[in-house]
Amino acid sequence: MTLRSRSLNCRCLCSRCICSVRFLSAISCGTICIALYLLLVKNTHVPESLISANGISGLLDDNILKYAVETSQCQIPEINPWDPSILNFLEPDRGFPIDCRASHRSWTRIDGTELVLNLTAIHESGYSMTSIRCCYRTIERVEQPLSDYDINADNYVKYSDKCHSLKKERQKIDADFIRVHCVATTPPLLDDVVYRDFFAIPQSESDRLVAKKITEWNSKTKNPDNNTTPPNIVIVGIDNNSRMNSHRNLKKTLEQLRKMGAVELLGYTKVGENTFPNTVAFISGYSEAELMPICYNTNADPQDDCPYVWKAFDSAGYLTVAAEDTPYVGGFNYLKTGFLRKPCDFYLRPLMLAVLTYMPRADYYHTDCIGSYMTEEVVFNYILEIIKRVSGKAPVFVHSWLTSLAHHNYNNIRFGDDSISTFIQSLGETTNTIFFFMSDHGQRFGPIRETSQGWYEDKLPTQWVYIPPKLREQFPDWHSSLQENAKKLTSHYDVYKTILHVLKTYDLENKAEEYYNRSISQKGQSLFQPVMENRSCDEAGISVNLCACSKPEPISVDDDQVKAAAESALTYLTNSLPLDVCAKPTLGRIVRAGYIRVPSRPIYVITMVTNPGDFLFEVNVEKEHDKFVIRTDLLRMNKITRPANCVSTNLLERYCYCL
Ligand SMILES: *[C@@H]1O[C@H](CO)[C@@H](O)[C@H](O)[C@H]1NC(C)=O
Ligand SMILES: *[C@@H]1O[C@H](CO)[C@@H](O)[C@H](O)[C@H]1NC(C)=O
Ligand SMILES: *[C@@H]1O[C@H](CO)[C@@H](O)[C@H](O)[C@H]1NC(C)=O
Ligand SMILES: *[C@@H]1O[C@H](CO)[C@@H](O)[C@H](O)[C@H]1NC(C)=O
Ligand SMILES: *[C@@H]1O[C@H](CO)[C@@H](O)[C@H](O)[C@H]1NC(C)=O
Ligand SMILES: [Zn+2]
Repeated sequence: MTLRSRSLNCRCLCSRCICSVRFLSAISCGTICIALYLLLVKNTHVPESLISANGISGLLDDNILKYAVETSQCQIPEINPWDPSILNFLEPDRGFPIDCRASHRSWTRIDGTELVLNLTAIHESGYSMTSIRCCYRTIERVEQPLSDYDINADNYVKYSDKCHSLKKERQKIDADFIRVHCVATTPPLLDDVVYRDFFAIPQSESDRLVAKKITEWNSKTKNPDNNTTPPNIVIVGIDNNSRMNSHRNLKKTLEQLRKMGAVELLGYTKVGENTFPNTVAFISGYSEAELMPICYNTNADPQDDCPYVWKAFDSAGYLTVAAEDTPYVGGFNYLKTGFLRKPCDFYLRPLMLAVLTYMPRADYYHTDCIGSYMTEEVVFNYILEIIKRVSGKAPVFVHSWLTSLAHHNYNNIRFGDDSISTFIQSLGETTNTIFFFMSDHGQRFGPIRETSQGWYEDKLPTQWVYIPPKLREQFPDWHSSLQENAKKLTSHYDVYKTILHVLKTYDLENKAEEYYNRSISQKGQSLFQPVMENRSCDEAGISVNLCACSKPEPISVDDDQVKAAAESALTYLTNSLPLDVCAKPTLGRIVRAGYIRVPSRPIYVITMVTNPGDFLFEVNVEKEHDKFVIRTDLLRMNKITRPANCVSTNLLERYCYCL
């Protein structure tokens, strides 16, 4: 049955139903759609009915018209962001618009290093300077001794005892972070806190190390022959955002990026399952497994000794910034200690820890708004403020990572479209900055991931690289290589090599030499040089189970080889588990199976459910001679809802049903 009307597009076949539920109205088909929508979308897994007889659902199988990457070793189809196979799962109406301006009227703002009261806003809220008493406390990071620290070492802040009163309309602030509040001095809310806000006021001049770097650049650039500072490098990362999700939810941002001449990398592929392994790949050039022996032994060990690339920039005299919006997830702290000493000159973490303590949270991990700003706007303003203050005086390296936006739901990224595009435009127009607008991975689990399209989206995070026009003129081969590489296979390791490439170009005195000597990883290559046409996933540092270059062909779940492959995956899983604390898994069912024709060793991609717990896994099983071999981790494709605190590693947390 096919029903169509102008405002409603709803197609129902026996095995599938595709509706744009967003436009539901009281038309005949509406009722059918609602019923099916509830039936399908309320389910956390792909319903049985959606999985076609021979396995994978989705439309990509048949006639691929266009390729995003089409090289001798890699073919990645150009995917339709609105492919009918996933429309059911986009849940465009879930979540509500985040409008921080509407829910909070700002009484205070920052102007330079001054805190300014907005008397109009105070009056409009029904108060006056005599019916409220406002003050601010400073927020400071507290560090533990290197010899005696605990797993919370990166989480301590203290507030000044004194609450500095705000009586004047303007007041100079001498702290990096402050917490403002106002108390009513008259009934009915006598002594209640009626206003709260948080501010970052990066104080570059007061930090000794920062001042030293600026002085050094000053003496260098005094030379009239060479009065330019190197470009800033800024990483703007949004967690959980596939390339296609950007196309669905960030229209303005993408338009802005195109207008500026930023280049989108169509074959940019993740190299690890979740945030940490992907982050360390572009920040250190190493895989998680390679990094561990270099700088930490367990997750409880701090990462202060890790060769993160901001250290190279620090040696070369760059000011460094680390700015994440969610202290307990983000790049370095999820189930980990993080850093004992602040890793960069500017570290936004103390402010965000204070925000999580005092502001209403959207969930345990994040707040949507800080005062009348969206959380990411606070991060963006912090970055712009730092760059603007030292502009022309010293170059800046920024690692920023935003998790709040997509943490509930990746569609919520759309609420950040305005602020992201504005930020990117400012970076381009007002600063001399090379930036990377990127993500770590796409949707890793949930109904979309269980479609053929989701198989791709998970693996292909968004990545746009911007070189300012002046540098394009100066280094035309950088930009032309980048444009060529857009249609090649690339990965996070390449970003690491690219930023080092830029640094080396400007580090004429070779100040970062010690960093290079100690810790250059062999992986990846600069995106500002041509990537080999015949690059394979292996050469790009992408393991077989994360490689999007060859798509599995559907194969029956009743195939004997498939069954044997699933059994061997189950054995592998069982052998990985400490069975004294985890239940011995059994095979529930094989959900679907695919087959990748690699000449030497064909690969079966098996999606299966294990019990207890209804765990959904995707696993690549290679057939070598007559044996099945598993070389890569099983990917857990449904959400971890039951605490797995009987085990201590990230991997086992995804594998173990605690007894
Ligand atoms: C002060 O508050 C009023 C009312 O909320 C607002 O319209 C105005 O833009 C604010 N002024 C500044 C400088 O932010
Ligand atoms: C100025 O810097 C550029 C690179 O940034 C370098 O190529 C050039 O040699 C420098 N000139 C002088 C006079 O130091
Ligand atoms: C990513 O998005 C999915 C789907 O909206 C959500 O369930 C998940 O929690 C998100 N993950 C992260 C790390 O934000
Ligand atoms: C780096 O290595 C080179 C070659 O081994 C050596 O000559 C140089 O002194 C080293 N530099 C530093 C700063 O350690
Ligand atoms: C890729 O091409 C280069 C040069 O054309 C060649 O040296 C190399 O062996 C090729 N690699 C593969 C894996 O085919
Ligand atoms: Zn992530």
